[in-house]
Amino acid sequence: MGKTEAASTWWHGAVLYQLYVRSWLDTDGDGHGDLRGIVGALDHLSWLGVDGIWLSPTMPSPDQDWGYDVSDYTGVHPELGTLDDLDALIDTAGRRGLRVLLDLVPNHTSSAHPWFVEASSGRDSAYRDYYVWADPAPGGGLPNNWLDATGQPAWEWDERSGQYYLHNFLVGQPDLNWWLPAVHEEFRQILEFWFDRGVAGFRIDVAQGLYKDALLRDNPPETDTGPLAGRFGLRPVYNANRPEKHEVFRDWRRIAERRSPPRLLLGETWVGDLGGLAVFYGDNDGLQLAFNFPFVFADFTAAALSSVVGRTLASLPAGACPVWTASNHDVGRFATRWCRGDERKVRLALLILATLPGTAVLYYGDEIGMTDVAVPAGLQRDAMTLGGQNPQGNRDRARTPMQWDGSPSGGFTADGVTPWLPLGANAACNVADQRQDPRSILSLCRSLIALRRAETGGHIADYELLAEPGDQWAYRSGGQAVVANLSDHSAAVSCRVGEVLLATAGQIPAAGEALTLEPWAGIIARQAGTLPFTPPAAWPGAG
Ligand code: GLC
Repeated sequence: MGKTEAASTWWHGAVLYQLYVRSWLDTDGDGHGDLRGIVGALDHLSWLGVDGIWLSPTMPSPDQDWGYDVSDYTGVHPELGTLDDLDALIDTAGRRGLRVLLDLVPNHTSSAHPWFVEASSGRDSAYRDYYVWADPAPGGGLPNNWLDATGQPAWEWDERSGQYYLHNFLVGQPDLNWWLPAVHEEFRQILEFWFDRGVAGFRIDVAQGLYKDALLRDNPPETDTGPLAGRFGLRPVYNANRPEKHEVFRDWRRIAERRSPPRLLLGETWVGDLGGLAVFYGDNDGLQLAFNFPFVFADFTAAALSSVVGRTLASLPAGACPVWTASNHDVGRFATRWCRGDERKVRLALLILATLPGTAVLYYGDEIGMTDVAVPAGLQRDAMTLGGQNPQGNRDRARTPMQWDGSPSGGFTADGVTPWLPLGANAACNVADQRQDPRSILSLCRSLIALRRAETGGHIADYELLAEPGDQWAYRSGGQAVVANLSDHSAAVSCRVGEVLLATAGQIPAAGEALTLEPWAGIIARQAGTLPFTPPAAWPGAG
């Protein structure tokens, strides 16, 4: 692959790292993480070997939704730092080969954004149509049946201008009107502004949103079940998931690709069907990457995971790069959801994430096996889930401070400062201790990333299921054989495995020796060209 081509697709096979800025490292003693803290702890990321970081929202915001309610798209939240701090971060990270992605929120603004303040001043405001306004239904009452993320009506009455405005999330997050060309132009300029400053791309919030039905039709009842089904009994076909949004992404892709190197668009594509996910990639002219939530919510079993991986690869257009992640600031941490805190499972999950073809995204703390933290009601900060209505459960559980060391402050802030969210109780789960221990989760995670790069250059493009999964899942990717034992019993691998490069537990057998995989253990083996990998149907217990 030529140099230009490699540079243009750096995210193919990359390991990205989602960094929740407020919880990463506090350098000014206010209990909130900040941009200087990221600069101060870049060594951890370089040492770990990730290729880029996605920063949770950094723009000014009244923090009703912790930055997902933006009041200025070209600024930096004063609690997190300054524009100079962000420039310095992009520069310092860049010199270490780490790309910086920002979080862009195009579906809605804060009600404190000057556009909305102006728009709500009266019906003849020049900014009126930046937002979605509606009169009461004939006979009075709400314009339609749409509900917001808390289960309340998605319409708020604006006394001053005598109409309702739409908010799919909180009352303080009015939805933008993407039918208006001026909104498109505003966001083009926002993209260019940050690209000029050297950001490598954006994670795009609520990418399934943006457009709303022009006729504001009622949402039909939801018939699906599960974590990705429409909430509160309604199927979100009219207040989101409109086809017109893809034209916006095609436009942004052109803008991103005019830059050298091209910039990356990674969508928060909250859809339950993989066909719908594929559409975000377009014909190689839409988003370059799209988060795969059916994978996030799959059961931690060989059958479920291999099924969703296989169906994903079959659904995506040729050349599209899949994305594998298992934790984030909304859905909680995989060490809890998948692993219930069982370290064997955490190690195995990391092996799986590191070996699937495409791009892997870790969430801060995944690398040390941080679990969800039960934040007491009185200390919770997430307004979206405070009332207990939101089926996502309280999202603070996965936003607690990074655990840098075993001290009372966890190394996150100065001693005596109260962090914005409480530290997890498991002080033994921390970076400093795990960095000293070659058998720790952190050391394993680093080895996995290093191996991925050493063996494949990071560009894992192929995937082949080696047998129908029973309790074990065996696949070939990046020229390696991966065997994951997702079960409570040992599995003897009677096949001849090529040189085993890495095991999450147990001894690494010599080439050609029979191998016993402990419960919830996995291996990566080099596929020697002459050694056929005997399908694991030959294993006891694999039937
Ligand atoms: C996305 C964000 C989430 C936020 C919501 C509204 O889902 O990930 O944290 O609350 O959008 O912006």
